[in-house]
Amino acid sequence: MRLCFLVEEQYRRDGMPVDVIRQLTAWGHQVDVLRPGGSLLKLSEAVRAGAHDAWVLKTVSGGPGLTLLEAAATVGLTTVNDARAIRGVRDKALAAVTAEHHGLPVPVTYAAARPEEFAEIPAAAYPLVVKPADGSSGRAVRLVPSPDRLPAPGTEPAGMLIAQPYVPNSGIDLKVYCVDGELYATERRSPLHPDQPTRERRVPLTAEVADIVTEVGAVYSLDLYGVDVVLGPDGPVIVDVNDFPSFRQVPDAVARVAWAVLRLADAGTSRYATAAAQLPAPAPVGGAA
Ligand SMILES: Nc1ncnc2c1ncn2[C@@H]1O[C@H](COP(=O)(O)OP(=O)(O)O)[C@@H](O)[C@H]1O
Ligand SMILES: [Mg+2]
Repeated sequence: MRLCFLVEEQYRRDGMPVDVIRQLTAWGHQVDVLRPGGSLLKLSEAVRAGAHDAWVLKTVSGGPGLTLLEAAATVGLTTVNDARAIRGVRDKALAAVTAEHHGLPVPVTYAAARPEEFAEIPAAAYPLVVKPADGSSGRAVRLVPSPDRLPAPGTEPAGMLIAQPYVPNSGIDLKVYCVDGELYATERRSPLHPDQPTRERRVPLTAEVADIVTEVGAVYSLDLYGVDVVLGPDGPVIVDVNDFPSFRQVPDAVARVAWAVLRLADAGTSRYATAAAQLPAPAPVGGAA
């Protein structure tokens, strides 16, 4: 297979995806690496139909990689994950509407550009969790106990913010990963509960959570993904969906992810090849009318 990995500056030294690239190379595949934030790119040369079987991106919020992945999709290349699917979860406001529309369990979600707008949310909905719509890795996620404790104007990062009622939970998140159709449940301390012990381990997956996570993949059209779930008083609630997450605690994560990338690249390629074979042959240029 001929693959092109987009490696954002933030992940230059990270096992995910760098070790996956090493693994694929060791298996004999051709892997080209593009560093979208690190060098000048001549776009017409970098993104060429037919040059690769698939492009792969582990996104970073606001990073330049997604534009390039979308460019690859535009010229007809297979992308892992699907470029439009990534957009659908990278924006938490959009992801919340999609989830709600499909009946997935998500908290009521408000959006505003300035945190002071959240003062209009009924007091009964507090405490609120306020977070940037394009956030990741717990950045700028706040627990706001009451309207008078909302972040002061001008103190939050620019861009859309979302607010949700805090779902009461133990302080330990359930992080469920999907690789090659298999689900792996792990638990990790919530950034909103620094008082909890730092505990990270695999845990059994209940049928209820497995169904929700499988449905997430279908709803957002994601192949490689993770779901942050909190166990609230009324059952599991989705608080975050991530394309290409860390897969921490997944056994043999590097080999599994590498294998999944190959399968997805192959499926995408044959999908396009089949579609192309069904197209009528192009009319000869200048042929008889
Ligand atoms: N509505 C909520 N109720 C309870 N906890 C939440 C809620 N939203 C987020 N959290 C907690 O905050 C953490 C970070 O929020 P998340 O939406 O996953 O942002 P990030 O993209 O930064 O990971 C979650 O893993 C969860 O522990
Ligand atoms: Mg999260």
